Amino acid sequence: QKYEKIEAFVKGFKLSSHTYKKIMSLLNEEMNNGLHKHTNHSADIKMFPTFVRSLPDGTEKGQFLALDLGGTNFRVLLVKIDGRDVDIQSRTYLIPQRVMLGTGTQLFDHIADCIIKFTQQHNLRGIKLPLGFTFSFPCKQEDLNQARLSKWTKGFRCEGVVGEDICKLLHEALKRKSNMDVEVVAIVNDAVGTLMSAAHNDRDCEIGIILGTGCNACYMENLKNVGVWEGEYDHPDQMLINTEWGAFGDNGCLDFVRTEYDRELDNFSINPGKQLMEKMIAGMYMGEIVRLVLERLTMEGLLFQGIDRECELFVRGRFYTKYVSEVESDHDEFFRNTKQVLDELGIQNYTSEDCKVVKYVCTLISARAAFLASAGLATLINRLNKPSITIAVDGSLYRFHPRFHNLMQLKIHELVRPGLRFKLTLSHDGSGKGAALVAAVALRLREMKK
Ligand code: BG6
Ligand code: GLC
Repeated sequence: QKYEKIEAFVKGFKLSSHTYKKIMSLLNEEMNNGLHKHTNHSADIKMFPTFVRSLPDGTEKGQFLALDLGGTNFRVLLVKIDGRDVDIQSRTYLIPQRVMLGTGTQLFDHIADCIIKFTQQHNLRGIKLPLGFTFSFPCKQEDLNQARLSKWTKGFRCEGVVGEDICKLLHEALKRKSNMDVEVVAIVNDAVGTLMSAAHNDRDCEIGIILGTGCNACYMENLKNVGVWEGEYDHPDQMLINTEWGAFGDNGCLDFVRTEYDRELDNFSINPGKQLMEKMIAGMYMGEIVRLVLERLTMEGLLFQGIDRECELFVRGRFYTKYVSEVESDHDEFFRNTKQVLDELGIQNYTSEDCKVVKYVCTLISARAAFLASAGLATLINRLNKPSITIAVDGSLYRFHPRFHNLMQLKIHELVRPGLRFKLTLSHDGSGKGAALVAAVALRLREMKK
């Protein structure tokens, strides 16, 4: 009877195949709206043309600086490409919370400081290297190296950046900080960087997805379908599209599947009403959804009898998404990881039954995330309609969650049109390599035009 009661509080996370198919058709419609000139302004999914029109072919060459901003880590990289051989040296720098929520000047000054430190450490002072910038936020590109931020997502909210050209802000900061000059050749989204990085070794790779702090996907679209494209409809007749599908549902079309926990999470976020699909999937939010459910079950007397109300289970943001992966990695009745997580939260006197419920809740919420991402990918696979396609994946959620890959494999198979084959591959080198490759392709094309 207790289990029936618990079920009543979590049943909203269990969606039928029929529901996922309905989500796919809504998503497909919204993608079409995003691609067309007359409907783009009101579409939630912006389907930004990236100006990337060819994939690397293995003849790229050169030495590049790359920046990777917007995931868990901020990285500066030195990428040496010689055909299929790629050598990467990189360093991770911290972006303090006060900078993430400060002014744009502070953010870009900090980035410039890190670049300067990096080039000093790698004896690159005085050498003007081309730079590829992975900037993992929605941007309207005006050229390969011109991108205006359309809004902040995830945990960033720096004043004075929305509407500005990211490349210009970087140049200005470098000028303020030193006489250093770089040539920003390309600004790319992390989904694009991930795709390019994997496409370097796999010609079938035409979809990229990030399952990390945030969630987003990109894919190669026929140029004739890209109504918002303002350039020539010439060759190559294709264009990588950054979908920014994290914003799917912002017009209310996903309300029929959102639970009371999703609503509460959204209300307390720094961007209420925005990125609603992302908030049901991505690592920045998953742990908090689990926490909200556990909190509710506890208040209902269905979990953790006699718990101390001061303990950290009741603190927002305190149930990290990595806990979900840890809990789900328990495969026996000893619940070693789960117990460690509960200890870390300061919960005392829990029972094995409690551990079982905690694991069950994690399982439901991560499965819904994996299935929603699968519905998104199946929509893209059906659109592309190729007999065989590779999907490049990156992000901590996919890397560390014990079941994400398998759940997606099964669900995509169930949702795609019969006969379409797909492969999910982890993009090992991060999107910095992809950004350098985009820069390399651009330089090669520039040379050819001379
Ligand atoms: C990294 C990529 O590997 O994954 C980044 O290089 C990307 O560009 C990141 O943003 C996404 O994962 P997470 O978990 O760090 O947000
Ligand atoms: C957010 C950003 C998007 C990025 C994704 C993954 O959705 O808006 O640009 O690709 O997170 O990092």
